[in-house]
Formats: sequence, structure tokens, C-alpha cells
Amino acid sequence: MDSILSPTTFHFQLRSRPLLTPFPPSILTINRLKNPRHCVHNKGVFGPQPLRVFATSAPSAETASNKSSSSIPSEMKAWTYTEYGGVEVLKLESSVAVPEVKVDQVLIKVVAAALNPVDFKRRLGKFKATDSPLPTIPGYDVAGVVVKVGSQVKDLKEGDEVYGDISEKALDGPKQFGSLAEYTAVEEKLLALKPKNLDFVQAAALPLAIETAYEGLERAGFSEGKSILVLGGAGGVGSLVIQLAKQVFGASKVAATSSTGKLEFIKSLGADLAIDYTKENFEDLPEKFDVVYDAVGQCDKAVKVVKEGGSVVALTGAVTPPGFRFVVTSTGETLKKLNPYLESGKVKALVDPKGPFPFDKVSEAFSYLETNRATGKVVVYPIP
Ligand SMILES: NC(=O)c1ccc[n+]([C@@H]2O[C@H](COP(=O)([O-])OP(=O)(O)OC[C@H]3O[C@@H](n4cnc5c(N)ncnc54)[C@H](OP(=O)(O)O)[C@@H]3O)[C@@H](O)[C@H]2O)c1
Repeated sequence: MDSILSPTTFHFQLRSRPLLTPFPPSILTINRLKNPRHCVHNKGVFGPQPLRVFATSAPSAETASNKSSSSIPSEMKAWTYTEYGGVEVLKLESSVAVPEVKVDQVLIKVVAAALNPVDFKRRLGKFKATDSPLPTIPGYDVAGVVVKVGSQVKDLKEGDEVYGDISEKALDGPKQFGSLAEYTAVEEKLLALKPKNLDFVQAAALPLAIETAYEGLERAGFSEGKSILVLGGAGGVGSLVIQLAKQVFGASKVAATSSTGKLEFIKSLGADLAIDYTKENFEDLPEKFDVVYDAVGQCDKAVKVVKEGGSVVALTGAVTPPGFRFVVTSTGETLKKLNPYLESGKVKALVDPKGPFPFDKVSEAFSYLETNRATGKVVVYPIP
């Protein structure tokens, strides 16, 4: 087995012998302790509170950026799994080798990370055939501070506050050493400087979802003056599709679906028409749209409400023509392009109010994401 593993994999296994010692299972609790500095809630979603994203900053980079390469430890805490399965396969390990940095990579001291459905689908073994080898440190989304740079890194330097989706191809050989760890190594091209107005929690909530939202809109040929229906408007991707369609692409009309309690939330993001999918069938609407963006897996119905010659983008589930599916390609360029919209506050990072989940509660964060009821993004913070 070892002979087919890359040197990095071998290093991981060698250094992580204690991985074999089971970490004590964390206590599953819904009423977990929350950091009182974190006030996040969304208008109309969880009661009558106003829409608020993080008003207070996560710890400034100062603490983390003081870490010069000489003070980088050789071992770190990380969430891992050594076999595919349910949340029970996740283990918090305390002596995993800090990843080596390749020439085009930087080492990031992770401050916050976010979960995506692909994290649990991958953990369940759905992409086994194209996955990187086990054991795995899960996690695609990261926000943190550069503590080391590879020899061919051009722009980033130690101390830079960065964010990104660390796996260029989500399903095809995603990183074995993910972001649910104290350190992660990432290609410079997948990263961007963190928008100045966002803290690390907010920044971690963006990369994979916003890059998917943007790539899907581009692939659908969405442009100014067109109308769009977003299926799953309250989720990580859907909440960004609504905002990008309205704020960046200049949509003439944005319609979106959600359950009853989230209608006000999707309106607050820019939806002109909020459709309660528990009461109405969107496919029975008389209106047709230039683009239907399906983040739920309802392509068969989505194609019924697209205009002749329009586009139906499907992120998941079976595809019905003329719908098409794509898998996001991570690139820091999208984050850079969207930076003005993020820094001006036109496009907001939306952190699910059940979080952020502290690092030792990653299993709970996964369980919550897997309910398919998350609003915006499930973020993990602080990370030791
Ligand atoms: N192909 C790609 O490159 C790509 C990239 C990213 C994501 N994805 C996939 O796209 C899907 C969405 O991802 P995500 O990150 O947005 O997930 P997510 O944040 O976990 O989505 C949860 C949201 O889905 C909404 N929802 C569930 N059932 C719904 C329904 N029938 N109608 C309308 N809304 C519904 C829920 O709202 P309610 O509580 O109101 O139901 C909840 O707010 C996942 O399957 C993911 O794997 C694919």
C-alpha cells in the first residue's frame, strides 16, 4: 500500500501514528457554548432580528502573522478520517504532520474554515474513484494568514491575510490535507487577499460558494437585463447567486425559492419574488425565466420554467436537457474580480447563525450541514 502512496502521503501516515489512537468522541450537543462576541442572524429567518453579519472581527492577523517560518511547529491539530462513512469517522487528532509547501504554494495558519456539502459527500465515499488517498483532512474553504511561501510564489508574502477554496478540482483529486486543520498548504493561484472589511469568519464563508455561483452564472450566459429563478435561494450557493445576479450581473428580475421562514431572508438578499416551495410549485408559475439556477436537484422541474433558448444550470442531481451541470473550478481570480463588490458591501458573506462552530465541534457542524437546512454558510472558528 505504501509503495503507491506519494511521499506526502507517506509523511502524513508516518508522522501521524497517533492518528491510530482514537480521539475521545466529542459530546454532541445542540446548545453548545457560543462565543458571545459573535452576533450573527438573518432577518426573518430566526425570529424578528435584523439582518446582521459579523460586526466584530475575528482576532486580527497580528497574532497569527507573528508566526515566522521558524516558529511553525512540525505537528498540528487536524480533523481526519481514515475510512469513508458518517460523521462518526471524523476524528480530531493532535499530532498530524504540518504539510510541506510545494514551490507554488503557501502555508496558511488557518483562522477560520467553512464546510460545503461536497465535504460530507466526499466523506461518505461518493467520489471514491477520483478522491485523493485516505487518510483525509477534510475542508475546502479557508481564511487565514500566510506563514511560509514556496520558492516560486510571486505575489503573496508572510503575514498576508488570504482566503480561498484550496482544491482546484472539487471532485478530481481534491487536497488530502484540507482546511480543517491548524495549517494547510495551498497554491497561490487559488487564493486572494481577504477583503479588508471582512473578518476571517466572513471570508471563510465565501470561496467555494461564490466561485460556484459566479461560474454557473457565466456558463449560463447570464447578463444585464436578464431574469433568473434561483432554486435553493437560502443555501450557501443560492444566497450568493441571488446577490451576484442582482449586484454584479444587473438582473432585471430575481426570483428564488425557500421554505416559509426564509422568505424574508432571500428578499433581503435581492430576490424580487420569493417563492415558498412548501406552498407553491414554482413550475406552475405562468412566468418563464432566461436562466434557472438549480442548487437543489430539481432540474426536471427547472426546465419547465425556462424561456425558449434560455439556460438551466444544475449543481446536483440528475440533469434534464437542456439543463447542464458543471463542477466548480477553484480560482483566486474570481475572488479578486469580485473584491470591489465585497469591499463595498454590495455582496455579503452570510454566516449561518448556528455557527460559527468551534474547532472541537466540527462533527456537530457536519451534522448540522447534513440536515440540508443551513442558511448561508456553516463556518468553523476559532481554530486553535
Ligand atoms: N457542481 C458544483 O460545482 C457544486 C458546487 C457547490 C455546491 N454544489 C451542490 O449544490 C447543492 C447546494 O449547495 P449549498 O452549499 O448551497 O448547500 P446548502 O447551503 O447546504 O443548502 C441548504 C439550503 O438548501 C435549501 N433547500 C433545501 N431543499 C430545498 C428545496 N426543495 N427548495 C428550495 N430550497 C431548498 C434549504 O433551505 P430551506 O431550509 O428553506 O429548505 C437550505 O437553506 C449541494 O448539493 C452541493 O453539493 C455543487
